[in-house]
Amino acid sequence: MNTVTTVRELRAAVAQARAEGKDIGLVPTMGNLHAGHAALVEKAAQRVDFVVASIFVNPLQFGPKEDLEGYPRTLAADKERLIEAGCQLLFAPSVEEMYPDGMAAQTIVHVSGVSEGLCGGSRPGHFDGVSTVVTKLFQMVQPDIAIFGQKDYQQLAVIRTLVRDLNMPIQIIGEPTVRADDGLALSSRNGYLDATQRAAVPAIYQCLHQMATAIKAGARDYPALIVEGKQQLEGAGFRMDYLEVRRADNLRPVTAEDRNLVILVALFVGTTRLIDNIAFELPEGA
Ligand code: PAJ
Repeated sequence: MNTVTTVRELRAAVAQARAEGKDIGLVPTMGNLHAGHAALVEKAAQRVDFVVASIFVNPLQFGPKEDLEGYPRTLAADKERLIEAGCQLLFAPSVEEMYPDGMAAQTIVHVSGVSEGLCGGSRPGHFDGVSTVVTKLFQMVQPDIAIFGQKDYQQLAVIRTLVRDLNMPIQIIGEPTVRADDGLALSSRNGYLDATQRAAVPAIYQCLHQMATAIKAGARDYPALIVEGKQQLEGAGFRMDYLEVRRADNLRPVTAEDRNLVILVALFVGTTRLIDNIAFELPEGA
């Protein structure tokens, strides 16, 4: 695997792969890679000849009080993981390389609709930062496919909308969430948890799973289910950000006719903010 840090080197390496007739896949990340990221790279390696991964802790998507400074940076271990997973090229730029005129001067890509509410509501500007950096990476690499995790469900929906609205010729692939044996969604932020917190957090997915099971079995009083779910999670010691049932395709509020649903949760464990979701289809007759 080659590692490059400048856009110029990136373009040259991708151009060479193109000249060799290879198709290109991109997996954007912020590093501190775990098995969830590796699954995306492995998927890309199955689908294309040349896999590019990026590692860039994007300051534009962090709020002023968020964990930008403390975000884990583990480049050497990340490289090992990427090689194992089948990555050919790593792009690991500096902030100056990505935002040479500073972030204040940067053109911003704003996806409306699907970026509002949920994480967009609690993290103002977050999805503008994501849409902008992902658009830049897409322009730099011009991949045939790009792979994202369903773990960040709203982010995936924002990127699908971005690509459609701006007519980008890139196929977006969403991959299932990789979980620990006890159900916890793998996340770089799990590393912030102490042992007591780590022992408590499997309750998050258990709660989502219980709610999905109840809905599949015919429960339709979503507001009551949400109140109950929040009580359960608060009882386990978490501070709620949101717990919502939405349409799986566009994240709009659910109506009685909707059959493809997603339950999304964001909460704080101490100062650590975790998100998770479960998407499911109502069975026939339910
Ligand atoms: P990051 O949090 O590093 O995640 C990179 C990719 O890995 C995202 O597509 C995310 O959804 C996916 N991912 C994270 N945990 C996962 C898990 N447990 N199972 C499957 N996939 C998982 O998301 C970002 O970075 C950034 O916002 C980015 C898109 C790179 C833009 O800066």
